[in-house]
Amino acid sequence: MENGKSVNHLISSHVSLAPMAGITDYVLRSLVREHSKTCLLTTEMISSEALTQVKDTVITARDKNHSPISYQLSGHKPEMIASCAEYLQKYADMIDINMGCPVNKVVKGTDGAALMRNPKLAEEIVKTVKERISIPLSVKIRLGYTADEMNYVKFGERMQSAGTDFITIHARTRSQMYGGKADWKKIADLKKSVDIPVFANGDVISIETAEQCLEESHADGVAIGRGILGDPTLISRIEQYINNGKKIPPPTLEEKIEGIKKHLLREIEFRGEEVGLKFTRKFYPYYVNGFPGASKYRGQLVLIENKNDILKMLDSILLKIR
Ligand SMILES: Cc1cc2nc3c(=O)[nH]c(=O)nc-3n(C[C@H](O)[C@H](O)[C@H](O)COP(=O)(O)O)c2cc1C
Repeated sequence: MENGKSVNHLISSHVSLAPMAGITDYVLRSLVREHSKTCLLTTEMISSEALTQVKDTVITARDKNHSPISYQLSGHKPEMIASCAEYLQKYADMIDINMGCPVNKVVKGTDGAALMRNPKLAEEIVKTVKERISIPLSVKIRLGYTADEMNYVKFGERMQSAGTDFITIHARTRSQMYGGKADWKKIADLKKSVDIPVFANGDVISIETAEQCLEESHADGVAIGRGILGDPTLISRIEQYINNGKKIPPPTLEEKIEGIKKHLLREIEFRGEEVGLKFTRKFYPYYVNGFPGASKYRGQLVLIENKNDILKMLDSILLKIR
């Protein structure tokens, strides 16, 4: 099949969940899927080094409803990444290679965004993986490593020639990390230069920003990362706007508190009470906000060590804001 064609049925909703380590776990993917039946989900980044040693079933877990879903791999050793990709085919509809992660620990090992400085190696990874899998392959990139090295157009062309079916691009450089603003207009240059579908990523946090991003980038869709925090309905709301012009409002304060209760209970079910409680703490700032005293409640919630007391506190918040 021609490059890119094999992927169209996986991205038909024009919105995807971007990979986020420690965030887009099995539970969050399931919560997003409850609202959107068709968006492309993506796992957290899975280190090929780690997966080679331990087949971690927490990170690979999937539900039958998760399709379409992409499993993201990081690494820099073509054969190792290819073996992992081959193994992940039993879960995945698509394999994504992380070529955009900016964190020091990752780029020091020449993984993530460091691959944009080494297009030859990136190309070898794509070719080697492509030979070993029968599902589509995508890459997730940034604009380049620094402002002086914005090689995303040439890099994207090269990834396409190597066999990549789909590109997600975060419109920042590695040096920017998460600072400044994503430059959506730049994505239009990549879109002009490749035939495969391109999704734009960075700072899409609402229906309005999705619309503006699509207009400026000319991309085929948008990938949503941080916008999903505290609002697993965002992807479905953007899809409904793109596909039938319907503007559904974001969750109310009350719905957000019900949302964190559900998220917490699901994490406990998935990870057990002790780990589930600790894991969920990072999500409170995104769900418990926007009313007087919210920060005091958040401070208290992270100190509570058992499920029932947390649920009691969340119920008392509900009484206060109703
Ligand atoms: C906590 C966190 C973890 C992330 N983990 C990954 C990852 O595992 N793989 C990856 O390609 N990008 C990762 N990213 C980057 C996001 O996928 C996305 O490109 C970035 O957050 C910009 O999009 P947004 O503004 O919609 O969040 C991560 C971002 C955050 C905030």
